[in-house]
Amino acid sequence: MNTNNYDKEQSHKDESRQSIQIRSPLDDSVIGEVLALSKEDVNSAIQLAKETFATWRNVPLNERAEVLYKAANLLLEEADRLTVLLMMEVGKDKKSAHSEITRTADFIRFTADTAKSIHGESIQGDTFSGFNKEKFAVVTREPVGVVLAISPFNYPINLATSKIAPALVAGNTVVFKPATTGSLCGIELVKVFEAAGLPKGVLNIVTGRGSEIGDYVVTHPDINFINFTGSTEVGSGISEKAHMVPLLMELGGKDAAIVLKDADLAFAAKNIIAGAFSYSGQRCTAVKRILVVNEVADRLIAYLKEEIQKLEVGNPLEKQVDVVPLISTKAADYVWDLIEDAKAKGAKLIYGGTREGNLIFPTLFDYVTTDMRVAWEEPFGPVLPILRVNNADEAVDLANQSEYGLQSSVFTENLSDAFHIASRLEVGTVQVNNKTERGPDHFPFLGVKKSGIGTQGIRYSIEAMTRVKATVINLSH
Ligand code: NAP
Ligand code: G3H
Repeated sequence: MNTNNYDKEQSHKDESRQSIQIRSPLDDSVIGEVLALSKEDVNSAIQLAKETFATWRNVPLNERAEVLYKAANLLLEEADRLTVLLMMEVGKDKKSAHSEITRTADFIRFTADTAKSIHGESIQGDTFSGFNKEKFAVVTREPVGVVLAISPFNYPINLATSKIAPALVAGNTVVFKPATTGSLCGIELVKVFEAAGLPKGVLNIVTGRGSEIGDYVVTHPDINFINFTGSTEVGSGISEKAHMVPLLMELGGKDAAIVLKDADLAFAAKNIIAGAFSYSGQRCTAVKRILVVNEVADRLIAYLKEEIQKLEVGNPLEKQVDVVPLISTKAADYVWDLIEDAKAKGAKLIYGGTREGNLIFPTLFDYVTTDMRVAWEEPFGPVLPILRVNNADEAVDLANQSEYGLQSSVFTENLSDAFHIASRLEVGTVQVNNKTERGPDHFPFLGVKKSGIGTQGIRYSIEAMTRVKATVINLSH
């Protein structure tokens, strides 16, 4: 694969600049190179975004939307090439990689449609006691300015776009910091927007390790909004440093699948295994623990075993697989430690528990107890703990004891029980009879507790990255 020199071209052709080799998690081969930008480079990108804001915000909405429609079409034209890049750079299987591209094109189109349907309002003064009809407010939405979009490795096209497209259509300019592993995809994404007619300086990519340029960029005084997706650890560090800057953050999770005694167990098992192990569980919304009532636990486990055995494991370049090598040795070592800890503390290994390099085989543990790390920590890998409970109340208690609060699933045939449980779960979304998942992308997507700040989802993201402005007309003047 060619070394990507895009950002070298962008940065004054200075050969003395440092670069970072991007290695594929599939075979550790070098698949490209990006610049490790200096603070001066990052500052230039932010200044350009700030200058361009003055003009981009005044481009008519229908023209901004037109750029997005074109970008969606161009992205689809590039789908096959980008699918291969996604597979190589972040180790995604072919089907998931391709659907990341098509989903993103849909996302961009829907964002343009939605922006056109968001209108302001006018409010009459006399709807509040003591005021009269001669006063009214015209309420409009204004862009916030320069949005810093920081994306994670696991959806380098989609989770970057879910920040960039709503920000741009709302009239903001963007400084985009992709995950280092994922920045080749990020660069391709920026090229697509530029080819669609986005003026220079409206979307500015800054490559480099978060550990090196992160603090500089998040504390830069000309950043007006930070839209971050990634780990709770990095996200909470950013929220401590960002002073008076609004934040939108989607962070880690420990999504529970609660299985009640009246659930359709075969259906639940199918959903849970797909939810837990696709892309090796490297999804914030992966099912990360099962809370099952004792009465049906053995029967559920029999179905889970049937389903887990069907998973294809291996190198996505060789065949269509569900479980792929993890993104790095560090990530695989972390998951492996969780597995060792569970084994040492007496969890019953139902399936898996083996490893070949960064490839961890899908692993299922029964009789996981609350003293085990895997009961609480987010593995971001293919290990799924089962915690047995006596009843639904215990399941809710255990679910809520997590520091995370992204999503939960409830499997039951009784809709009123499902609603009752949903109302008590401390999460952003409860899925009734389905695996936990983000889409469709116009639904609100949010985490509570340590899983996030604010709400994403197409309309919600546009609203988050705009602010309301009231112009009050006083007719009696
Ligand atoms: P990560 O290590 O937190 O990195 C996320 C992004 O932050 C990357 O672009 C990274 O750049 C950057 N970064 C690192 N240190 C930084 C700093 N000090 N200041 C500013 N930026 C910094 O997360 P990841 O490993 O890419 O993704 C996995 C995690 O993300 C999991 O915890 C997962 O749950 C979470 N996630 C959550 C959602 C959600 O919607 N809730 C979605 C996807 C992922 P570098 O790559 O250069 O370090
Ligand atoms: O990794 C976090 C993503 O937001 C998960 O999205 O549920 O569509 O896989 P997904």
